[in-house]
Amino acid sequence: MPLNLKYSDRLNKLPPYIFAEIADIKRRKRKEGVDLISMDVGDPDIPTPKLIVDALIDEVQKPENYHYPTRQGEPDFLEAIAQWYKIRFNVDLAPSSQIIGLIGAKEGLVNVARAYVNPGEVILIPNPSYPVYENGATILNGAVPYIMPLKEENIFLPDLDNIPSEIIKKSKLMFLNYPNNPTGAVITSKFLKEATEFADDNNILIVYDNPYSEFTFDDYIAPSILEFTSNHIEINSCSKIFNMTGWRIGFALGEKSIIGGLKKIKAQIDTGIPSFIQRAAIKGFQEYKNERKPPIVQDTMDIYEKRRDILVDGLNKIGWKTEKPKATFYVWTKSPEPNSMEFSKKLIDIGVVTTPGIGFGKFGEGYIRFALTEPVDRIEDAISRIKKIL
Ligand SMILES: Cc1ncc(COP(=O)(O)O)c(C=O)c1O
Repeated sequence: MPLNLKYSDRLNKLPPYIFAEIADIKRRKRKEGVDLISMDVGDPDIPTPKLIVDALIDEVQKPENYHYPTRQGEPDFLEAIAQWYKIRFNVDLAPSSQIIGLIGAKEGLVNVARAYVNPGEVILIPNPSYPVYENGATILNGAVPYIMPLKEENIFLPDLDNIPSEIIKKSKLMFLNYPNNPTGAVITSKFLKEATEFADDNNILIVYDNPYSEFTFDDYIAPSILEFTSNHIEINSCSKIFNMTGWRIGFALGEKSIIGGLKKIKAQIDTGIPSFIQRAAIKGFQEYKNERKPPIVQDTMDIYEKRRDILVDGLNKIGWKTEKPKATFYVWTKSPEPNSMEFSKKLIDIGVVTTPGIGFGKFGEGYIRFALTEPVDRIEDAISRIKKIL
């Protein structure tokens, strides 16, 4: 007789993962023979730079890299990150106490909440946003989400003055993410100062999720929150910077006392990133000679910029009013129909896969997110397909 297994109450509280739903529809359509242009998941189609792949081939052959990795991260990896933050953001960090390796940013976002928030306490969550803030980090940890709407009229920044004082009193942590997924918005220095003052005054830890720090266009340079304050924690990742989503490597940075909580949690859950992966990633960071992107990053951004221009200009030409983002590899645009799920299903029917805004929360409804993860000719093909149904 099979066991009568039931998911825990905690797990039952989670909504379905929207990307899984889209993946199911994609699988079905592929089976039906539809040629899919995939612009839904934020997973770069461009390979990891050769320099990093070559370093991996080298490192994976060294038996010293086969052991359990050092719990916090290999010292040379932590040192490379510290040097990168100095060169890139002019932030000084002690590698041995103020940086910890993560199995991708996602893991750190969930564990930092687990380290600092008790069941029933509030986490302030922007909406629309990366679904892990509300689900994995908040609901799964027994915390209570408080939604901060990101509205276009407020350049997709939350309105901190609108948070009720009884919520502020119960709040322990706030997620912020700029350059922003899904809106492509960037932060202003004024807002970053305002947010850190608000958080300091109310004893709220900001988790500044910064994996798109290098995904910027034109002359825009994205900041680190650590340039403004050492009271909060930043999370970053190699996933987007070096097209390494599948390698699973990220890191968190902040004061020793803040990193300490993450270190204590992770000691009981995982054993870190394989050493050969850490050592391969070092090579990428060592390419930075100043705050400007080195060719291994800039070349990728040039490709995304071209794709962004082709997509946005193309959409505008066929009457779908869309603006160019200053950062990220997402184009966030008002859906021609108010129900974003329904409209994105119509797009899948013609083989154009996007993510409906509702997948990022209720304030994402009415929008569609395109990821710039297809080459120019495929984007042009997508535009001519969309033209037929607009
Ligand atoms: C805002 C944001 N944070 C974190 C992540 C996850 O990054 P990682 O691959 O390092 O876990 C993503 C991935 O798309 C993201 O968009």
